[in-house]
Amino acid sequence: MIAPSLLAADFGYIADEVAMVNGSEADWLHLDVMDGVFVPNISFGFPVLEAVAKLSSKPLDVHLMIVQPERYIKQVKALGTYMMTVHYEACTHLHRTLFEIHEAGMKAGVALNPSTPVSMLKDIIDDIDMVLVMTVNPGFGGQKFIEHSLDKVREARELIVSRHSSALVEVDGGVTLETAPRLLKAGVDVLVTGSTVFHAAQPAEMIQRLKAL
Ligand code: DX5
Ligand code: ZN
Repeated sequence: MIAPSLLAADFGYIADEVAMVNGSEADWLHLDVMDGVFVPNISFGFPVLEAVAKLSSKPLDVHLMIVQPERYIKQVKALGTYMMTVHYEACTHLHRTLFEIHEAGMKAGVALNPSTPVSMLKDIIDDIDMVLVMTVNPGFGGQKFIEHSLDKVREARELIVSRHSSALVEVDGGVTLETAPRLLKAGVDVLVTGSTVFHAAQPAEMIQRLKAL
């Protein structure tokens, strides 16, 4: 599956950018929320998310790079979100947070920073619908892919298979036509792509090329 990340879009033409995704073969629309605390950058908040949610016909994949994401479960649900992803490093009581996301009627994803081992999810994997392996340090688009992430993707896949879980594996950061085939081979289900899609001369065509891999 392909989830274009709106972070790399031209915000001056946000409706056109969302319309491009709507008309493309993309599976989800990936939305990156940053608070300037968990990550050293601020992206957009609920007023913008609400406008985008109204425009999008694709399921929303909301990636919260914020501290205490459990404070916003209701607001994220109100957007019509399909998948709400929180960071392992941002949740003191991850088990409770995942329960609350499920109770709100959403799928629950857990993201791992590059320095967090996959083994940290051993005791919680049964409660997770998607493992998001960060393939760059979260906070900015257009960064270089961290090669070690390939091992982490394989480990995440092994953990999921060994526990008979149906969780998906998503990657985010530095996904290109060069890294995507290797990621897919390592066991990825969902590719998040920011600059590769939105900075392409023909974004919808780029989505089609990524889908065909
Ligand atoms: C990074 C964000 C990503 C970002 C990826 O912190 O979570 O979703 O948009 O951008 P690219 O694909 O350009 O690396
Ligand atoms: Zn993201």
